[in-house]
Amino acid sequence: MSRNTFVRYCLPCFLLFQLLMTRLFAQVSVQQLLTENRTNPIGLDVTIPRLSWQLATVKRNVMQTAYEIRVSTDAASVAKGTSWQSGRVASEQSVHVPYGGAALQPSQRYYWQVRVWDNTSPKPSAWSTPAFWQTGLMNAANWKAKWIQQGFPGDSVHSPSPLFRKAFATSKKVRSAVLYMTAHGIYEAQINGKRVGDAYLTPGWTSYNQHLQYQTYDVTTLLNQGQNAIGVTLGSGWYRGRMGWADQKNIYGNQLALLGQLAITYADGSSETISTDESWKSSTGPIRFSEIYDGEVYDARLEKTGWTLSAYADADWSGIMVKPFGYANLVANYNELIRRHETVKPVKVLTTPKGKTVLDFGQNLVGWVQLRVTGKAGDKVVLSHVEMLDKFGNPYLENLRTAKAQATYLLKGGTETLEPHFTFFGFRYVQVDGLTGPINPADFTAVTLYSDIPKTGEFATSNPLINQLQSNIQWGQRGNFLDVPTDCPQRDERLGWTGDAEVFSRTAAFNFGVNSFFTKWLKDVSADQFPNGAVPFVIPDVLRGPNPSMAGAAGWSDAGIIIPWNMYVAYGDRRLIEQQYASMKAYQGYMESVAKNDLWSEGFQFGDWLSFVTTEGSPAFEAKSAFTDVHLVAQCFYAYSTDLMRKTATVLGKTDDAAHYTALLERIRKAFQQAYMTPTGRLISDTQTAYVLALQFDMLPENLRPQAVDRLVDNVKKYENHLTTGFLGTPFLCPVLSRFGRTDVAYKLLLQDTYPSWLYPVKMGATTIWERWDSMKPDSTFQSPSMTSFNHYAYGAVGDWMYRTITGIDTDETKTGYKHTIIRPHPGGGFTSAEASLKTYYGTVRSGWKRASDALTMTVEIPANTTATIYVPAKNAEAVQEGGKPLGASGLTAAGTESGYVQIKVGSGVYTFTSSGF
Ligand code: BGC
Repeated sequence: MSRNTFVRYCLPCFLLFQLLMTRLFAQVSVQQLLTENRTNPIGLDVTIPRLSWQLATVKRNVMQTAYEIRVSTDAASVAKGTSWQSGRVASEQSVHVPYGGAALQPSQRYYWQVRVWDNTSPKPSAWSTPAFWQTGLMNAANWKAKWIQQGFPGDSVHSPSPLFRKAFATSKKVRSAVLYMTAHGIYEAQINGKRVGDAYLTPGWTSYNQHLQYQTYDVTTLLNQGQNAIGVTLGSGWYRGRMGWADQKNIYGNQLALLGQLAITYADGSSETISTDESWKSSTGPIRFSEIYDGEVYDARLEKTGWTLSAYADADWSGIMVKPFGYANLVANYNELIRRHETVKPVKVLTTPKGKTVLDFGQNLVGWVQLRVTGKAGDKVVLSHVEMLDKFGNPYLENLRTAKAQATYLLKGGTETLEPHFTFFGFRYVQVDGLTGPINPADFTAVTLYSDIPKTGEFATSNPLINQLQSNIQWGQRGNFLDVPTDCPQRDERLGWTGDAEVFSRTAAFNFGVNSFFTKWLKDVSADQFPNGAVPFVIPDVLRGPNPSMAGAAGWSDAGIIIPWNMYVAYGDRRLIEQQYASMKAYQGYMESVAKNDLWSEGFQFGDWLSFVTTEGSPAFEAKSAFTDVHLVAQCFYAYSTDLMRKTATVLGKTDDAAHYTALLERIRKAFQQAYMTPTGRLISDTQTAYVLALQFDMLPENLRPQAVDRLVDNVKKYENHLTTGFLGTPFLCPVLSRFGRTDVAYKLLLQDTYPSWLYPVKMGATTIWERWDSMKPDSTFQSPSMTSFNHYAYGAVGDWMYRTITGIDTDETKTGYKHTIIRPHPGGGFTSAEASLKTYYGTVRSGWKRASDALTMTVEIPANTTATIYVPAKNAEAVQEGGKPLGASGLTAAGTESGYVQIKVGSGVYTFTSSGF
């Protein structure tokens, strides 16, 4: 055989064979090492971080039997495990394993690796590639820096962004440099002319008086040996910009301030710290105005070229003022920072009836536009951001209410690339004013900004409208997960409305990894809770008055109970419920204190917010409105929370609490029945939401549930297969129908495409979820401009049912975080296929089905170190094959049959089932 023939034909086969053998017989390997849910986080102040890893194998039935972890502060000798050697621990645990070594030191990098044993081999895996985490300053005593403010008088009208700078020299070779920074306001830092980090709108938004996050950056590569300079610009942001619709400004203070500490370690082991202090200088620069709602005014003529370089002449700069703000509220950044993500180019350049030039980016998104422009010094270019065009084709500004949402640039002349710094916009269309000559769409790039939450979920079906709905749900999440879960990203609101986050939280945890995102926000739920336990309507609580009047409403404030539980279920994060338990219990206590005889029937309630209400004026139409008694709703949510408290207390071993909640729950249900139900089971509100909530939370005696389901189904029929639910009924509408065997009706609702329905906006061209079912009317006019957002994720809560029911991916509530997965798809809706996948901490869970004539093919993937119960839709076990073989021959057994499903218990692996005669 010639060498060529060998290389061409035999070598590839040989390599393939080798690859196959390695995959089949190799020890399992370990991958995807996470510390506190993140890859190699820098600046972590958690004293006992939790380590997670995945077993990388597609082999069947692989379970970890033991692990060994070693941790060192030195990359080269991680094998020595100088900080921790766990030894071989016989355990299946591969998620959230607490660090068990020596007390962590501040500002220290810890390298770790892990190896595992599994049930397929007596030999351990190879040690994983090392990962690391780096601690932050860990406690207030390690802050050396002083808070500084600008040294020149402020301009309280436009509040231009102050610049701060300091030049410094490093005399020796730098081994490492770490910058710790935060601000009152938003900051952007540069060292030697280069941007520090890739995060935006730092330090993000928290209840600043309680928690102010600082960020940690490895800036080693930005430093020079010799002359250096650091420069920082501050923006008003959430700190002193106006927040809320009532024109409140300066909620946290009226002056911006900076705190930064640069820790340099030299190659010889010595160290030096450059901190904000009296030696810094301040001035203003090109950002003349900057507000979250209103946008930014940038005068490029005022750029201070080279101001973050050491050679810059700063003699005319002012000094600074040192302020005694202290460090008590400082906490290390816990969640993913806001970063740039997708970039989108205009799909059309339009000329409006009023002769304006408008760019259509084809997608409602959140971020800003980067503009490349050539002009003369002083030319003014204004970009105005809107979500919609009105029916005539003009930008629809009214729904922004008072938010200006404009980026204004005064050019310095020549060709320049510009983008805002301390603001963001929710938009699909941008009106461009001030450019002369033809517009080149290539000069405009929309940049999305959102918390760097990893995308974990994919969902697709054979129905393109449903796929668009899924896309709209995910885009709604992108746009509104900007450090805080916001209601909307465009008008003068953009607040952390608890209700919106609560109803969407379960869906959110399918689409993106939101464990750390919500963990951070829930710390502020606790921090902003009133002494009587009431949770404010928005977190951070910028609507706060002296009394808890804007707190304690059903479906909103119980975000403080529901979201921790939902995260526990989705991620198995026990520490989160441990940490939140006091807050959860306090809110539960609040509800108990306002309820009389176990009935919560007083006080303000949002109720089933934005349910179907006709405003056409005619009595016949009004009769069609679907208003549900707000206290009936509140009682159902009281039961919901009490049930979750019962479950949480049980998980945490708080048996007395669990017993109390169990007994209370029974009384709450009785009180509901007495107050809102006739003896035959009719509810005082004959609405979908009333029956949905009563069924979802087991408010009705068991014998009366079937007729309640019938009433719900009749009600759906009465509205000709339209939903009429609002924020609180919507998430449970399809789940309740499925639970009681009426998935057929759920599909009808899902596929309905006239108002009110999920697909109506899709048919109207929506690219995100709308705030109201009819934010835009069929004649292309709009709902009330005072409250019509086109990017509000709440109604996207149907996504949870799509994943959990259509493709049937769910976690066992007793083995949360997909340690044991339940796969139970519900083919229907005329779909020929549906598939979803979810990246869990263990690996990917996948469930898909395809329908062809009378057979159903189901593909399931279960990650290593987990198990699953798969429900294959089939008449009986004989009708099911796996991998083309009868069940027994493929090594699987049916564990039983249950209402049209064959139940099969499996371990890890990829499975292909066919169900004939289906
Ligand atoms: C927000 C909501 C919020 C509601 C509560 C609105 O202004 O946009 O989504 O939940 O107020 O009333």
